[in-house]
Amino acid sequence: MSLPPYGGTLVDRQVSGAAADALRAEAASLPKITLEGPTLSDLYLISVGALSPLDGFMDSATWTSVVDSMKLPDGRPWAIPIVLPASHGEVDSLKPGDRAALMAADGEIAGVITVTEIFDRDLEREAEKVFGTPDLEHPGVAMINRLGSRCVAGPVEYCYPDDISGHSEDHMTPAQTRAAFEELGWDKIVAFQTRNPIHRAHEYIQKCALEIVDGLLVHPLVGETKADDIPADVRMECYKVLLDRYFPEGRTVLSVLPAAMRYAGPREAIHHAIMRRNYGCTHFIVGRDHAGVGDYYGTYDAQHIFDEIDDEELGIRPLKFEHAFYCTVTDQMATPKTSPAKADQKIFLSGTKVREMLSRGERPPAEFTRAEVADVLMRAYRA
Ligand code: ADX
Repeated sequence: MSLPPYGGTLVDRQVSGAAADALRAEAASLPKITLEGPTLSDLYLISVGALSPLDGFMDSATWTSVVDSMKLPDGRPWAIPIVLPASHGEVDSLKPGDRAALMAADGEIAGVITVTEIFDRDLEREAEKVFGTPDLEHPGVAMINRLGSRCVAGPVEYCYPDDISGHSEDHMTPAQTRAAFEELGWDKIVAFQTRNPIHRAHEYIQKCALEIVDGLLVHPLVGETKADDIPADVRMECYKVLLDRYFPEGRTVLSVLPAAMRYAGPREAIHHAIMRRNYGCTHFIVGRDHAGVGDYYGTYDAQHIFDEIDDEELGIRPLKFEHAFYCTVTDQMATPKTSPAKADQKIFLSGTKVREMLSRGERPPAEFTRAEVADVLMRAYRA
């Protein structure tokens, strides 16, 4: 029995065919709100049900409840505000009940919002509560400040392409992944979130998880990431060579998640888990410093936060893994739970260190990255 979507029903705000033509015709004469990349991602994710039970952008009461209490007004856990920031000029004439066109950066109509409220969010409070820091150097805090405080709330309809990921051949909506899992006969499905190439530590925790579930959804995030993260098209190539060569056939599904990265650490781990529940997964991998950046979060903060919320309500179960490394005593990947190695017998490499090696033209060591993945990365950094 598959786990139902969060809130019970998969939200579907996509409009197609003649109805989409009619929506576009209406939108042409409506006031316009231009969407930045992360907001277009959220619009898309709402529309395909990845953010169920949300059917639109949050109002001030919901924003307050999420920011202060990590809950939706109905009491269900929710960690990240999903708001539609808009510039003053664009929304000053709008009032509740109005409809407004949601414009993608390419000038196309992406959808329509029926306005229920216009409000200003407190960016400092959101930064402190959601990101745990007021620091404008934090990429997520920088992002909310770039998008601004004024927000428009309300339910949405969506008439933009049903794939905004740029990776059409590896793109599935929540309805499609759910159908795929059913066809594969999988009941227990673990999701793996990543914004990096899959290195051996990632592979190790994926395989530990695969020992106890029916299948693995490799679900890389391909929306906006910070400039020094490895681009999604290079990562996709890495995922494919790895899955082809190092995983058994029929135990993995690779599909992209067109969400923006917030780097909100613990809060984002909850958010990532909720989205994966909507995509049909029952378990979610949370390793070391999940969705973290710099030194803003403790190594296992993103695991501890799951103790603060009602796991029955959340439904999807976190599978928590300690910091994995290459153990030179046993000659295999391990964690402190499985390895007898002393500090100098462990090979740890961070993504940042590997990126530095790649920019110097150095090959990441075999203990860290499979040769085929290293080949893809070396080629990409040379280009
Ligand atoms: S993240 O921002 O998407 O979390 P990344 O792609 O590096 O970054 O991590 C994907 C998942 O693997 C996360 O759950 C993270 O905690 C986990 N992870 C990354 N590196 C390790 C490691 N060395 N040991 C254990 N877990 C790890």
